[in-house]
Parts: sequence; C-alpha cells; structure tokens
Amino acid sequence: MNIVITGAAGFIGSHLSEALLKRGHTVIGIDDLEHTTNRNIKEDNLKNILGHPQFQWNSTDLLKIDLDHLINNADVIFHLAGIAGVRNSWGLSFNDYLQANVLLTQKILEACKKSARLKKIVYASSSSVYGGGSGPFSSEESPTRPISPYGLTKLAGEHLCSLYYKQYGLPYTALRYFTVYGPRQRPDMGFHRFMKAAILDQPLTIYGNGQQTRDFTYISDLVEGNIQAMNYKNHGTVFNIGGVETASVNEVITTIERLSGKKLQLSYLPEQPGDPFTTRGDISFARNELGYHPIISLDEGMTEQWAYISGLYGNEVASPK
Ligand code: NAD
Ligand code: UGA
Repeated sequence: MNIVITGAAGFIGSHLSEALLKRGHTVIGIDDLEHTTNRNIKEDNLKNILGHPQFQWNSTDLLKIDLDHLINNADVIFHLAGIAGVRNSWGLSFNDYLQANVLLTQKILEACKKSARLKKIVYASSSSVYGGGSGPFSSEESPTRPISPYGLTKLAGEHLCSLYYKQYGLPYTALRYFTVYGPRQRPDMGFHRFMKAAILDQPLTIYGNGQQTRDFTYISDLVEGNIQAMNYKNHGTVFNIGGVETASVNEVITTIERLSGKKLQLSYLPEQPGDPFTTRGDISFARNELGYHPIISLDEGMTEQWAYISGLYGNEVASPK
C-alpha cells in the first residue's frame, strides 16, 4: 500500500516508517524537521531509512503546501505531525499548538475528504484528553476533561475526525497513546532527560514528589497498535493504546540508578501545571477489537532506551585529565 506518514522524522513517526517499510509498503514521509526536537536528532531518527527505495522523503511544512496531490495517491494516512508535550503548552506557545494540532488536522481532513482511494486515517491522540481525573483506569467511555492546552488541542483533533466521519464518511481510527518511551524518545520527555542527566553526572529534576505514575508504553508495542488500527475494518472509533505496566517517577529513577550504576543527584521542583498525577489506560477495547497486546516490560524497554541514550551522549562525558 501507499502510506503517508505526517511527522515521519519524529520519535514515533520514524519507528512507524521503518516498521511499514519492513512489511513491504511504500512510505511517503513528511516532516519539516522544525518542531520540538532539534534538527540533528530528527535527521538521526531517519538514518536507517533515507535512501530506502520505497521511502519517499518530503521535508516540508504541511501547513504551507497543497496536500491534494499527496493524499490522492494514498491508501492510508497516519497523522502524527503536531506539537507534542504537555508542560510547554501554556501561555504564548498555545498559538503554535493550535496551528500544529488543530488547524493542521483540519487541513489534512479537508484534503482527505476529496480522495476516493483512502482506506484509513489513523489519528495520533493522547492520554492527555482524559486530564487524569477519570479514576484508576481511563476507558474510552470515561469523561474527557483535559487539564492542559495541549490535551485540549489533541481532543479537538479527535472531534474534528469524528465530524468529518459523520459528515463525509471519512474512514478514521483515533488512538490515545499513553506516555511512549524507547530509543529516539523526544529530548523533552522524562526518560530521555533522566538518562541524559545520569550519563552526564548532572542533577535530575523531578516535578512534585515523584509519586506520580504513568502508563509507560514501549515504542514497538505502540507501533504494532498503529498497524493493527490501519488494518481495522471499522471506522469512527477511538482506542486507548497503553503499555504493559505503570510505574511512578521514583520507581523509574531507581531503575536508572541500577542501569547506570550511579547514585543520582535529584533536585525537586513543584508539580507542573497540566501534568496529571496518574495515567492508566484500560486497553480491553483495543485488545478485543484490534488484537492489541503490549509485551515489552518496563525493565526490558528501559534497558533498550538506556543503550540508545548512552550512544547519543556517551561521547559528551568529560574524559578524566
Ligand atoms: P515528535 O515531536 O517527535 O514528532 C512530531 C513530528 O511532527 C516532528 O518531527 C515535527 O517536526 C513534525 N511536525 C510538526 N508540525 C509539522 C508541520 N506543520 N509540518 C511538518 N511536520 C510537522 O513527537 P512524537 O513524540 O513522535 O509524537 C507524535 C504524535 O503522537 C504527536 O501528534 C503527539 O501529540 C502524539 N502523542 C505522543 C505521545 C508520546 O508519548 N510521545 C503520547 C501521546 C500522543
Ligand atoms: C507524554 C508525552 O510527552 C506527551 O506528548 C503525550 O501526549 C503524553 O505522554 C500522553 O500520554 O498523552 P508525559 O506523560 O508528561 O507526556 O511524559 P514525560 O515527559 O515522559 O513525563 C513523565 C513523568 O515524568 C511526568 O509525571 C513528569 O512530570 C515527570 N518528569 C518529566 C519529571 O519529573 N521531570 C522531568 O524532567 C520530566
């Protein structure tokens, strides 16, 4: 199939691109390399696939181009491009989040509605749509009450997909990803920051008391969930895509101390606005409908990410005089 991936140079988009190429699909990857993460890291994300005969790379800002010709030839679109990150979405940056997450999604859907060929749009949504107030498990039926401007824009994207489905029959499936980790995780995210600080012998910043928990989802499990959603015959549905286990930030720090063999220096800041205290997705709907079944334990996944972060920053460690 011809598959368009928006945000293909990002953390998740680059892994998804690789997995789809391995399964014999043609991937048209689009990314402007400008948002959130620095350009070098995004170029590094693509190093395994640039030059692949079935990978068509397009480095451009989706907000500035005519999308019709791209989408007319696509069987599937994974819409991952956007500005991610909960804590940075307050204040002045809200306009950027609105552009990248709401206006861009609407532009993509407008182009999709003209395509007779399109079989599926998979929309990358977020656990942040719940806002953390829906009890020990959030199911797709739980109330959606975001507590960050980011969560609000991701929920607006879901609503847009639903509107275009109802009005034009656009074949979408939305996935609410829960805190994804593994090699290439964005540098603004927790594990990346903690592991980098451990390698460089710098203090780690913990927001709040570290007892907050997340449903950490390993990247290869998440990619599998996306591919299952691509093949899902029904449309107009939203699924939670969570991981094998939840853990607190304090438990994560203990694991990084073991992986690094160091006692880490911890520095504490207040809880950050927009951070839910806990996230945990009920994935039974995805398990039953998509066959989604995450398998990578936190221990295994963090060991993989530690190897990646060591490769990225290991040579920055000052050599002894
Ligand atoms: P990422 O920042 O690594 O990837 C997003 C990519 O989109 C970036 O490379 C960026 O340059 C690109 N992009 C943004 N606006 C663009 C535009 N106008 N034109 C072209 N490219 C543009 O983020 P990620 O962590 O890989 O997340 C991917 C998607 O999944 C995002 O939509 C995010 O909201 C969602 N999500 C991520 C997580 C997570 O834990 N990483 C959890 C829930 C949801
Ligand atoms: C992540 C992604 O960054 C969002 O893009 C995504 O939408 C969201 O998951 C989701 O599930 O939908 P977050 O859960 O905040 O957001 O992920 P991390 O940045 O990895 O933070 C995990 C935890 O570590 C949070 O409780 C955070 O407060 C804490 N943290 C993070 C710190 O204590 N210190 C840091 O320096 C960074």
